[in-house]
Amino acid sequence: MATFTKLDDQETPVISVHPERKISKINPNIYSGFTEHMGRCIYGGIYDPGNPLSDENGFRTDVLEALKGLNIPVVRYPGGNFCATYHWLDGVGPKEQRPSRPELAWLGTETNQFGTDEFMKWCEAVGTEPYLCFNFGTGTLDEALGWVEYCNGTGNTYYANLRRKNGREEPYNVKYWALGNECWGPWQVEQMTKEAYAHKAIQWAKALKLLDPSLILILCGKEGATTWDYYTLKECLVPAHSALSTSSVPLIDMHSIHLYTSSSSHLPNVTAPLAAERAIEVTSSLIDLARVENQVPPDQLRPTICFDEWNVWDPIRAEGSQGAEESYTLSDALAVAVWLNVFVRKSKDVGMANIAQTVNVISPLMTTKEGITKQTTWWPLWLFSRYMRGWTIGSHVSSGTYEGETKPAWVRGAMQTPWLDVSASLGEDGYVNVAVVNISEEKDFESRVEGATGEVQVFTVTGADVSVSNMNGKEEVAIQESTWSASGSYVFPKHSLTLLRWKA
Ligand code: AHR
Repeated sequence: MATFTKLDDQETPVISVHPERKISKINPNIYSGFTEHMGRCIYGGIYDPGNPLSDENGFRTDVLEALKGLNIPVVRYPGGNFCATYHWLDGVGPKEQRPSRPELAWLGTETNQFGTDEFMKWCEAVGTEPYLCFNFGTGTLDEALGWVEYCNGTGNTYYANLRRKNGREEPYNVKYWALGNECWGPWQVEQMTKEAYAHKAIQWAKALKLLDPSLILILCGKEGATTWDYYTLKECLVPAHSALSTSSVPLIDMHSIHLYTSSSSHLPNVTAPLAAERAIEVTSSLIDLARVENQVPPDQLRPTICFDEWNVWDPIRAEGSQGAEESYTLSDALAVAVWLNVFVRKSKDVGMANIAQTVNVISPLMTTKEGITKQTTWWPLWLFSRYMRGWTIGSHVSSGTYEGETKPAWVRGAMQTPWLDVSASLGEDGYVNVAVVNISEEKDFESRVEGATGEVQVFTVTGADVSVSNMNGKEEVAIQESTWSASGSYVFPKHSLTLLRWKA
């Protein structure tokens, strides 16, 4: 975990790395994704039947190949806000018999040509695990139980047999299930109070765990530092055996929080993800508080945080009902790198994080009918997913700090905002990996890197200035590879992400 000492701007920054101080295991699920029936994520993104680039299932092969390179462990589906009116039965069985329906989250028409079986097949093609979100809007508990039975049932029961009839003998064994999405939001069909949500969530959880105690159930939190999060945790994180439940297993396994950050000014944009770091800390404390107040036995599994929507997104510049297609800049790529540093630093608490979303909608990967573009934000994601695995290790940063405004404003009072934002990991392969984001638009920082040894591999993501994008037909931002002898100091270029990697 990077601890920090503030220096004057003219002093030489120091990054010390301690591979012998393993702090916590990095859950690979922090590199997870999210595909929603929204804009061109599913239709025209991952599913594009009739396109010469698609396979016999209608899956875009260029998208599949690119995503395989990201090594995505889990993908959340089918939303997002879309879930609140989605009936999964509409999306299974013969395609010509599936109904088209008005879609109320993004105000389009849902044709249901892509549904549960298509998603499962697509997950198998990508090599990822599915994570499904229940309809807490117009859906019923019966429907939810039926969906679990359809996906996971092995007996001679109605929905398990329906799956077989639809061509899939073996169960899909879907582990991760969300108890609704952003049920607190005024944009949500059947928006709920925290009291109504907590009551419904615990009752659904009880029934779902009766059907399958091995499910991992994810409670719908808000942004972490909110009364909603406090209340829902307090009501739902109860001992397995309690007045509410005779379950042999805990009812809630993870707590979900969401945050999107953005600013049209570079420094507020790249420091905004530090709000997520504080939100994770607060949520972690709320989890402990609920466990203390509810006298949860210490040996009952402590829930982790499922940060199942995060990214850079300005919903005014890229409106949801217009498909939310962002054209990301180098500044946004560096913000994504800071986001990922946060997840590595907070690996003790974060059990999953899902970039929202995986294709076209606020995404690092864009499609046209003719091919794909890897946006600026693709490259930090690719580098982290490839190298920042294993263990979070001790690191200390001494540097100057950015002192200007932050977005949200409260970050300024709660967090330090160093010029060099750092996380460090030790991989199973014995390599130390250090990710350093120099957020300054103007200044290269010549720094000491204590602990670096031997030949150091260097990966740099930068560009001519913070406003460049890859969406104009030119790859302005990509990865440059080099080496460094680990002697003297290393110069972290202005507005860059640098990943240094050496054998411990
Ligand atoms: O990811 C886009 C939308 O943002 C999701 O549907 C919703 O959950 C959030 O508000």
